[in-house]
Amino acid sequence: MIAGRLLAPDAGWIRRADVIVVGSGVAGVTVALNARRLMPDRRILLVTKSMLDDGSTRWAQGGVAAALGPEDSPEQHLADTLTAGAGLCDAAAVRALVTEGPDAVRRLIALGARFDAEPGGPLALTREGGHLRSRIAHAGGDATGAEISRALLFALEQASAVPGGGLDVIEHAMSLDLLLTQDGRAAGLTLHVIGEGQQDGVGAVYAPAVVLATGGIGQVYSATTNPQVSTGDGVALALRAGAGVADLEFVQFHPTVLWLGPDARGRQPLISEAVRGEGAFLVDEAGNRFMTGRHPLADLAPRDVVAKAIMNVMIKAGTDHVYLDGRHLGAATWQHRFPTILTTLRAHGIDPVSQPIPVVPAAHYASGGVKTDLRGRTSITGLYACGETACTGVHGANRLASNSLLEGLVFAERIAADLASNFPAPAEPAADRRKPRLLDQAAMTEIAQLMTERAGVVRSGTGLTMAAEELKKIGDQPAGTPGVLAWEATNLHLAAAALVAAAAARRETRGSHWREDYPDSSAAWLGHLTVTLGLDDLTVSYEPDQVAEQKGQR
Ligand code: SIN
Repeated sequence: MIAGRLLAPDAGWIRRADVIVVGSGVAGVTVALNARRLMPDRRILLVTKSMLDDGSTRWAQGGVAAALGPEDSPEQHLADTLTAGAGLCDAAAVRALVTEGPDAVRRLIALGARFDAEPGGPLALTREGGHLRSRIAHAGGDATGAEISRALLFALEQASAVPGGGLDVIEHAMSLDLLLTQDGRAAGLTLHVIGEGQQDGVGAVYAPAVVLATGGIGQVYSATTNPQVSTGDGVALALRAGAGVADLEFVQFHPTVLWLGPDARGRQPLISEAVRGEGAFLVDEAGNRFMTGRHPLADLAPRDVVAKAIMNVMIKAGTDHVYLDGRHLGAATWQHRFPTILTTLRAHGIDPVSQPIPVVPAAHYASGGVKTDLRGRTSITGLYACGETACTGVHGANRLASNSLLEGLVFAERIAADLASNFPAPAEPAADRRKPRLLDQAAMTEIAQLMTERAGVVRSGTGLTMAAEELKKIGDQPAGTPGVLAWEATNLHLAAAALVAAAAARRETRGSHWREDYPDSSAAWLGHLTVTLGLDDLTVSYEPDQVAEQKGQR
């Protein structure tokens, strides 16, 4: 049984706002700051499930991609993004990303983000997988996300400190469900706040505009680079509200995550692709390079190509990891370019200056999400989605490295601009008739194990059918007790079920969706799968790509 809404106590308090932004990563904070700047008379409320910097943004290492170098251009960035996306990018969305991207990064710098520079001043730019130019701007060597988060949160703190300034922030506030008007428009949120005073426990915020920027779904898998908070809350909330979720089958597995043993669970340390950008390479157990000859870009091939190659090497050799050899980079490069990774590796007893690093692919990024148009609008009036939560179409079947922070910046600015010019009409919530339900928090581990075994890097029709059946059984288990972990488990369950439904439907291999029973890409699948939630079940619908149709590729 799938929850129509999350089982929770009735709202004990009510508050009003004009815009609610859910999430405090690059996407959420950029929406909030821009919305406040463009609409000084509106009340903006930013809520976040945990602490402000607990999301994915702070963990981003490699950087932010943008055509900022003298030998680069938005056209070249566009071409690389389309190639990585394996035929499924929305070209108009990518064009918006790559043309507006450079100025969005400059505005971030003007806001206070300090990026690494070459001697003499210009930004230091590096390469990552799938990029034919050096266009990855980075900060603190390998601490780009942390620096962006610091700068944005400092600006947020200043803006929200202005009494009556129209921007409020609530931490430890888990969004539960969207409130809807009689005619199905967004009307606010129910949420649970661990706080003090009037807004404690479950309450409701009435607002005609809600922006979901809750990050990804990485905790659907046992091993992921995502933080604990990435439990698919935005995707699940949107599905329960009736919005469409697209391209969810395309989960990107990062090729080089530190291998911590077969039983490693939860957030795993990332070894940035920028390490390969600076010259490190992958080797098998015998020390042989295996990317050379597999792809013209060798170790810097797009991420799906590298992850598949690693899996093939592991399957053939019967091993559970390969190695990343960066010894030749030398101590100075490790210290200067990758201080965070170096510290992490040494904390795990590995010295990359003298040893190859054991690595394995792990769940990293949801290329799909809540389906939006180019202004971040979902199929529900007043509901927007941004960042990893959204599917704007820029990533297609496989996100190009370091395009995610850029997408967060560019589309957040677009959402704020849309709100400023087309603010939704006033909206009052109607009575909620959806069936409430809740899983027990223990389901979380069960779901992650199941998804890792049956819907991970390599998938098959049989495995996906078994996953769907098991998820159904988990959904039918006795209900849990309301609380953050049970709400998260219920969200993960719905995100997992939607992912499995899409992965089972797509009978081909493309980008980061690898079906061993359909090993080739098929022109018949040059289109998008959208999942929606009906009364008690998920429906998957297929929309052929119109551009491909026009070009006669289908
Ligand atoms: C990395 O540093 O390899 C991750 C960057 C990204 O996921 O875009």
